[in-house]
Parts: sequence; structure tokens; C-alpha cells
Amino acid sequence: MTAITEPEPATRVPPNGDAALTVRNLWKIFGKGSDRVIGTPDADLSRADLKEKTGCVVGVKDVSFEVAPGEVFVVMGLSGSGKSTLVRLLTRLIEPTAGHVEIDGHDIVSASESELRDLRRTHTSMVFQHFGLLPHRQVLDNVAYGLEVRGVGKKERRAKASEIVELVGLKGYERSYPDQLSGGMQQRVGLARALANDPSLLLFDEPFSALDPLIRRDMQNEVIRLHHELGKTMVFITHDLAEALKLGDRIMILRDGEIVQIGTPDEVVGAPADDYVRDFVSDVPRSHVLTLKWVMRDPRPDDDLTGPTMPCDTIVRQAAKAVLDSDLPVRVMDNGEVVGIVDDEEILRVVVAEESHEAASS
Ligand SMILES: Nc1ncnc2c1ncn2[C@@H]1O[C@H](COP(=O)(O)OP(=O)(O)OP(=O)(O)O)[C@@H](O)[C@H]1O
Ligand SMILES: [Mg+2]
Repeated sequence: MTAITEPEPATRVPPNGDAALTVRNLWKIFGKGSDRVIGTPDADLSRADLKEKTGCVVGVKDVSFEVAPGEVFVVMGLSGSGKSTLVRLLTRLIEPTAGHVEIDGHDIVSASESELRDLRRTHTSMVFQHFGLLPHRQVLDNVAYGLEVRGVGKKERRAKASEIVELVGLKGYERSYPDQLSGGMQQRVGLARALANDPSLLLFDEPFSALDPLIRRDMQNEVIRLHHELGKTMVFITHDLAEALKLGDRIMILRDGEIVQIGTPDEVVGAPADDYVRDFVSDVPRSHVLTLKWVMRDPRPDDDLTGPTMPCDTIVRQAAKAVLDSDLPVRVMDNGEVVGIVDDEEILRVVVAEESHEAASS
């Protein structure tokens, strides 16, 4: 039998588990009189109609979701879909119009100013597209800045900062100033600064979108590596689907401030909720994202069911060679039970469709 290592399942909040982040019925409406919209029929208007009628703009509309501890939760959507507004609402950098936000069990919306400052310092860190480094401070002191604000002594904060600088691959640059570093390196400093506080929740608002593609890929890999090493919960905003698929345990897709779909990468690609999502995922190489459960079929009476087994969440591309090499159909397993069959035909259907799509679009 072929032994295939089971891929890590997508993390989700266990039914009775504590979420790292809980968002319930969160709204942000910008403009005069925005607090009088919710609860009236106007709240059901489209963004354009509400603007036309009241002058108010919906940033985030009745959004609810939970993020599990250690999960990477990606928020995606076109420009203006409400991503930045949402991430700023989470720590009340923007005041919500209505709704509930909880980080590690702390109610953010009802927190006092001083509680909020404390929560922001100790529980969360944010990484923005524009690095926001202090230009007259060396790398080490930029990284140590958050600790300084918290009143940590110089020796201790520099020791901690050195450790983190090394962790993000900037050893040797401790004494450099931000303008002596490339964009990618500056964003590493941004990452280090965010990590120095040892937050439980890291918030990223399109941190890599100003970087060129190769550096961007390095930084994505860096986030994956750091996530493996540190296991932090992350909310990561991007408008780049490839980035979302690469980093996200789950992806939430927003349009005009509303949730269109929340799902694992294979769910979003395999079963897009509507044409907006379908459009987003239309160019994705499906074999890189879909798992066997999306391509398997029911066993037929003439199938030999003594072939190799593979877990249902194996990515098609990773399964392809073993399936094609096997003389017998592969049994697809979930929780120790056979849930379907995959043979050459099922694999080739995905791969061939992908190749003809590539040919058509090149
Ligand atoms: N301070 C504000 N006042 C009025 N409208 C705002 C304000 N901030 C954001 N908006 C509106 O809210 C909507 C969502 O904006 P937001 O910046 O959250 O989108 P985004 O998804 O982050 O877009 P991008 O990908 O361009 O960064 C937009 O229509 C925007 O014009
Ligand atoms: Mg934005």
C-alpha cells in the first residue's frame, strides 16, 4: 500500500473551543447620520443606493466570523470591498457603528480607552503596506520600539529585539537605518517590530503589495515559516488570490463590505459561491488547490478495491504521480473509511482541463 503523509487539516474553531477572534454582526457605515441606518429598511439597500439616498457609505456590513487559535485567516476582495476598514475595526482604530469583537475573550467594543490601549499593546500587532518605520532609528531600536512604549528596560528590550531581528533574517543589520535597506528588508523590520511584542494576534493589511514579485514571494515564505515556528493567529488581508491560497487556512471573500464566501482554499476554488468568486478563481491551476475529495467518484461494482489508499485532503497534484503509477484505483479515505475512488481518469480530467485553460489564456 502506498503511504501518503496526511496534509495538515485546515484549522477551525472547535465547537466548544475558544476562538482567538470572534466577530459578530460588525458594521461600519461612514457619513453623517450613519448611526441611524442600522435597524431601518435603509440597511438593506445596496451600497450605491444607500449612498444615493442618505450620503452614507457602507464600509463593512453585518460581518460575522471566528478565527481559531493558530489559524491564518485571509480576507480578500477587490479595492473598496472593506478589507482595511474591517481590520481596523478589530482593534477600534476605526470605531464600529455596531457589532461585537472579541480578541482572546476580551470584549474590544466595550473596552475603555486605557483597556483598549493595553489590549492593543499586549494582544495584537499590525503590519501595513507602508512600513511606517521610524527613519532616525536603527533597525534594532525600531524593532524594540513597542517594548520601549511598554516600559521595558533598554538592555532587556535590545536583547529581545536582537533575537527577533535574527529570527526574521536580518542579523548583521541591527545598526542600519531604514533608508539603507531594500523594501523587502524594511518589511522584515516591520514584521520583526510586530513580533517583538509577542502578540497573540497578528494583523496584516496588504503588507507585501508594494514589493516586487520575487521579494514578495520570499516574504510570503517568511510568513509561512514564522507561522510554523511561532504558531501565531493571523488575519491577513490581500487582494492577490495566489497569496490568499498560499497562506490561508481559510479565506473570506468580501464584496461591497459584505461576506460573499468563507472557505478553505479548495472550497473556494472547488465551489465558488457566486460569479464574483468564480471570476477571482478562474485562473487558478486547479490541481494545485483541489483535493481528492473534489475529484473522486463512487466505487463501481467492477472496481478492484484492494489498491492503495490516500487521505481525501491530499492535493490532486501531489497525488497525481502515485495514482497514475498505480495499476489499481486509489481508495480515498476519510476518518478510516473509504469515501471514494480516484483513478487515472479523475486525475487527468483536472490536469487536462487545466492545460487547455492555460493554452487558451496564453
Ligand atoms: N473614512 C472614510 N470615510 C468615508 N468612506 C470611507 C472611509 N474609509 C473607507 N471608506 C469607504 O469604505 C469602503 C471600503 O474601503 P476600504 O478602504 O476598507 O477598502 P479596501 O478593501 O481596503 O480597498 P483597497 O484594496 O483599495 O485597500 C470604500 O467604499 C471606501 O471609499
Ligand atoms: Mg485597503
